[in-house]
Order: sequence, then C-alpha cells, then structure tokens
Amino acid sequence: MSLMDDLQILKQDGQDAISKSSSLEELEDIRVEFLGRKGKLTLILKDLKNVPASERPTVGKLANEAREVIEAGLDERKNELIRGAEDERLKTEFVDISQPGKIPHVGRKHLLDQVAEEITDIFLGLGYRVAEGPEVELDYYNFEALNTPPDHPARSLQDTFYVKQAGGSGQLAEEKKVLLRTHTSPVQIRVMEKSKPPIYIIAPGKAYRRDVADPTHSPMFHQVEGLVVDKHVAFGDLKGTLEAFAQAMFGEDRQIRLRPHFFPFTEPSAEVDVSCFICNREGCRVCKWTGWIEILGAGMVDPNVLKAVGYDPEEITGFAFGMGIERIAMLKYGVNDLRLFFENDLRFLAQF
Ligand code: DAH
Repeated sequence: MSLMDDLQILKQDGQDAISKSSSLEELEDIRVEFLGRKGKLTLILKDLKNVPASERPTVGKLANEAREVIEAGLDERKNELIRGAEDERLKTEFVDISQPGKIPHVGRKHLLDQVAEEITDIFLGLGYRVAEGPEVELDYYNFEALNTPPDHPARSLQDTFYVKQAGGSGQLAEEKKVLLRTHTSPVQIRVMEKSKPPIYIIAPGKAYRRDVADPTHSPMFHQVEGLVVDKHVAFGDLKGTLEAFAQAMFGEDRQIRLRPHFFPFTEPSAEVDVSCFICNREGCRVCKWTGWIEILGAGMVDPNVLKAVGYDPEEITGFAFGMGIERIAMLKYGVNDLRLFFENDLRFLAQF
C-alpha cells in the first residue's frame, strides 16, 4: 500500500468517525487520534522521507487535503452537536406563554387605617395639620390638664391601665402617674403647650381602656381628636365644621344634631348625631328607629384647659371633638362586631 492509499483511508476513517460521534468529548478524542501531534496523520507523514522527491508535492497536497477535510468535518460536527444540545435545552426549558400567570398576593391597608385616613384627609382639606402624642402618657396630660382632677367622677368612666415604673419605689404624685392614654384628648394639651394659637389640628391614634372585648368594646381602640384654638372661635364654627365633616364622610344630604352632654374638658359639651345614612331618617335597625346615629363628642374648650396651657380664656377660645374610628368604620361599612378588626382574618379584611 502506498502512502497515498494510507492518506485516502485516513481521510475516510476520519470522516466516518466524525459522523458517528455523539459528543464534544468524543470529537476531541477523534481530533487527537487523527490530527494530534502523535496522531495517525503524523505517523503516516513520517514515511514521507521514503517517497521519491518528485512525488512528494502530490503526497503533501493529499496530506493537507486530508487534514483540511477532517478539520472541516470536526468543525461542522461540533456546530451540529452544540445546536442539538441547544434544541434539547429549548425543549425542556420551554415556556408556555399562554399559561395563566401566578397572581402575587398583594396586601392592602387595614380598614381602620383607611377610615382614619379618610377622616384625616377631610380635615387636611379644611386646613388642619396632623398631630401626634404618646400612647404611654402621664396622668397630667390624660386627665389633670383636661380638667379632670383625681377625685373627678369622669375618671371612673374610663377604667385606666396604669403602667408600673421600673425601679419606682414609694407613691408617685398623682399627676406623675404613668398610664396608657384612655383617649386621644391629651394630644390637645401637648400641642397647645408647644405652640401658640391659631391651632388647627387633627390627631388620629390608639387609646386603651380596661374593657372586656365584646361586639362594641376592645381594650385597645382608635380615636381621632380635633382641636381648633384661635381668636373668636364660636360654637357655630364647631357646628359648621362638624356638618361639613359629616357630609364629606357620610354623604352630602346628611344633617347633624347636637345633644347637650358633659365632658370635663369642654363647656358646653355635646354629643353629635348624624342623620341615618342607611334609611335617611325613615327608621331602620342601624339607627335603632330613631333616624339618628351618634358619631362623636365635642364642645367648646373649657377655660380651665386653656388656663392649664397658659392661654388667656378672655382672649382665646376653641372647640374640640373626638370620635371612635372603629365605630365610624362599623357604621360606614356595615360591620357588626368590632372584634373582627383585630382578629386578622384575611377573609374579613380583604373585603375592604
Ligand atoms: N375624649 C372623649 C372620649 O374619649 C371624646 C371627646 C369628647 C373628645 C369631647 C373631645 C371632646 O375632644 O371635645 O370619650
């Protein structure tokens, strides 16, 4: 067999091996076997020196051709294998874009936050600003400065959570006692202490009372406090403001009604009803067939309260009001048990 035959066979064997190969590793082995430094082609060409000089160019040409054909074959097969692997991958990683997506669970604001914001926004629209105070409060701000001295009977109406003070020994002076605020009214004092009239504030927040939870009570609940102090503030301003609020909150056809009441920190004081927005005063279960629903307490700031913060009641007057957010939310959204707000059952909360 001549060298020419050997090269012919090498070329054919190489091509056969390449076409049968099924992986990139196998291809590399074939390359080494045929074209490597110690491969078959090198081996054959070792005999080139025995070929007559006149034939060498022809043999050389054939050797080059065999190398080129095998190299081209390797390249082509390599591309095929890569493409094949990619097709395979695309098949397994196929994304069905027609499949419905997974809907992520989106949280929402708690109904009480929504209602508090709704109330607050109405007053922001009237030029009020938002104020805050601490939930752990001094007796002074919660009662004393609000014209509710220690022996005042109103204190027993708001059964109070007192806070034990760390390392506290002996009896604290009454007004130094620490408690969980029983209403948001102490914010009135804190704001007036720090600023001068005119004051127009709205203060939403938590309050606490020693109540057993039932459909209308909870030891923790929410209130919104309002306070206006300025020159020449009159009872008519209070009434007009509350009417505007009731209409913004419960519908523009609403009317309000003020009934005389007592609060230590206001004089005169009133309980305020809104005309029933369920039956429009025809009489229904919600308004207990009275046509009216109580929504808040209010009054003119008591001169003693103004004096407690160093204002002159002869020069400055004001009005205040306070309402329960749970109550407003229950009325507006037809919720019949206040405890539902705090059980965190998403089936309930997600309805709002
Ligand atoms: N603080 C009262 C309560 O918790 C509500 C209230 C009544 C607030 C009259 C006021 C007010 O500012 O003027 O029952």
